[in-house]
Amino acid sequence: MGDSVSIVVPTLNEAGNVGRLIEELATNLKGIDYEIIIVDDGSTDGTTKVAEEAARGLGVNLKVIERGRRLGLSSAVIDGVRASRGNVIVVMDADLQHPPSVVPKLIEAVSNGADVAIASRYVKGGGIAGDWPILRRVISWGAATLAHILIPSARGIKDPVSGFFAFKKSVMCLNRPYGDYKILLDILALCRVGSVVEVPYVFRTREAGSSKLGARQIVNYVKQLVSITVNLLAISKYRPLKFATVGVIGLFVSELVLHAFWRILGLPYFISLIPALEAGIVNNFTLNKVWTFRDRSVGYLVGLGKYHVASLVGTAVNYAVTNLLHYVLGVNGYVAYVIGVIFGFLANYIMAEVYVFKYRGVVVNNTIASTQGPEAY
Ligand code: GDD
Ligand code: MN
Repeated sequence: MGDSVSIVVPTLNEAGNVGRLIEELATNLKGIDYEIIIVDDGSTDGTTKVAEEAARGLGVNLKVIERGRRLGLSSAVIDGVRASRGNVIVVMDADLQHPPSVVPKLIEAVSNGADVAIASRYVKGGGIAGDWPILRRVISWGAATLAHILIPSARGIKDPVSGFFAFKKSVMCLNRPYGDYKILLDILALCRVGSVVEVPYVFRTREAGSSKLGARQIVNYVKQLVSITVNLLAISKYRPLKFATVGVIGLFVSELVLHAFWRILGLPYFISLIPALEAGIVNNFTLNKVWTFRDRSVGYLVGLGKYHVASLVGTAVNYAVTNLLHYVLGVNGYVAYVIGVIFGFLANYIMAEVYVFKYRGVVVNNTIASTQGPEAY
């Protein structure tokens, strides 16, 4: 394993944990060329002093970056990467909730070719120690679900919001964070990541100090998703807006075909609707294939078949929402229909994104170590 490794550890008042962290890393990384980079945001409990003493006593290469005030977890990682000499970067918390015994597995996965190796709570063999508050579990699940909806490259990954991961330094493309807390998401969304491996681990109970995750970080997380989505809109060349434009063009095509069968050929209205609907589907699939989702490869006939399924789902959602609003909530029929069309459009778009023109950009292997349980680390 010829790689040199930099372990970036953001700290904020972790004097009670950082000494043991360095000890446990030294025990688990024997024979590996590594350095530890502490990026401290104005700790007032002597965190950096404790770290320097522990590293000196163990002969561990330690770099300490003192930033003086709270600039955020994500920007701490970016500054740590900037100061690193390793070609493999590991990011982990100082509070021992991320077991140092998993670090060799992450390094091994990257050395074996993965662009990113994620210590994952949500793959087979992973988990969360008993007393993590329910609210935190809900927040974590909600964060991962939002990430899966908004960020295509996070879709196949079970724990895209993990704070414990390793990556090839060459993958890092960010010079600024998009949020406070989830730098992994920024990397997955905005950098060129080809292959991801998930390694199971059990997120431990914090033993000393307290979590710094507060309402501000949660608000910032939503802002981060918006900021990444806006960026993705630009990167994806405004895909959802193109999808809507195709939908409007499809409407005109359907009307023309309806007119041809109903008024020119004189067929009954309910019969004329069938070629009109079909023309709309063929038009929309074709334009979305060559324009909106040009970067996604899908066979024309297979894709067209899937697009019919997606259109059925969209129509069903439109129909259900319209009736629910009108009959159950008493919303005006015309208003209910417009809202139903919007929901139908969203359902159509999500189906196009995740089913018809499925993103295949990242190869995710979240089985690599699932044969071994966390006890193996
Ligand atoms: N430099 C710096 N600046 N460090 C920070 C900051 C900051 O603003 N906020 C927190 N830290 C450090 C803490 O000292 C700790 O080492 C680590 O970042 C995680 O902080 P916690 O406050 O313990 O976060 P958590 O345990 O609630 O959540 C963690 O685990 C989740 C699951 O993996 C974080 O890593 C989350 O990002 C992660 O999703
Ligand atoms: Mn923690």
